[in-house]
Amino acid sequence: MARKKIIVFTGAGISAESGLKTFRDSGGLWEEYNVEDVATPEAWEKNPALVLDFYNLRRRQAVNAKPNPAHYALVKLEKRFDVQIITQNIDDLHEKAGSKNILHLHGEITKCRSSVDDSLVYPMKGKDLKLGQRCEKGSQLRPHIVWFGEAVPMMEVAASLATTADLFLIIGTSLNVYPAAGLVNYVPEIAPKYLVDPSAFSKDYIQNLTVIKETAGKGVPELVEKLLK
Ligand code: APR
Repeated sequence: MARKKIIVFTGAGISAESGLKTFRDSGGLWEEYNVEDVATPEAWEKNPALVLDFYNLRRRQAVNAKPNPAHYALVKLEKRFDVQIITQNIDDLHEKAGSKNILHLHGEITKCRSSVDDSLVYPMKGKDLKLGQRCEKGSQLRPHIVWFGEAVPMMEVAASLATTADLFLIIGTSLNVYPAAGLVNYVPEIAPKYLVDPSAFSKDYIQNLTVIKETAGKGVPELVEKLLK
């Protein structure tokens, strides 16, 4: 019998208990920085050094961060289910925990790329990206991150994966940012959906939704235990 397919859609909240800031909570990143100054193509044109510093700081934090019980519980699911992680996060905590199938919708902090040719993506060697570091075509290297106002290249792949879900888990995202947040609309209506988030409230536009008002570190292991019964 083919294994049931679980699609797991994660946001910054799953990394919060690993010490990485979310964006829109109190104390979140967008309280400290203006998006327009550090996470848009215009910001990159205007002040690339500031943008590089913003991501250098986040990369240092991500490099030192450890997966938490929520990440590990998702790995456990792979014992019985065909699990596909679709994350908005740029950290590599799902990788560090051992998840096999991971799709990053908004890029990866551990990679950099040419600023003239999107297909030239490189693993980060050191922790910092500096002005003057250039790609093979001679352009300044940039973070391999999707900035506000830029296309989300993996959205189509993510949407078609979502249509195959037997079960859909939503963990630690405010579902505020599109097109990523629109992923939910591609999941079959009849597929049971679970939302794990301490400040979540039920969303009438999502059918078959169970809201688990818990932190990921507590709610995800409990949910996984239930699903593995
Ligand atoms: N466990 C689970 N959820 C949590 C926890 C926790 N310990 N702490 C906070 N949360 C929840 C918050 O209640 C909130 O709903 O995580 C969510 C975080 O929402 P955002 O900060 O908006 O992060 P996210 O949804 O991932 O943002 C999406 O916006 O800024 C862009 O590209 C960036 O990928 C990001 C996108």
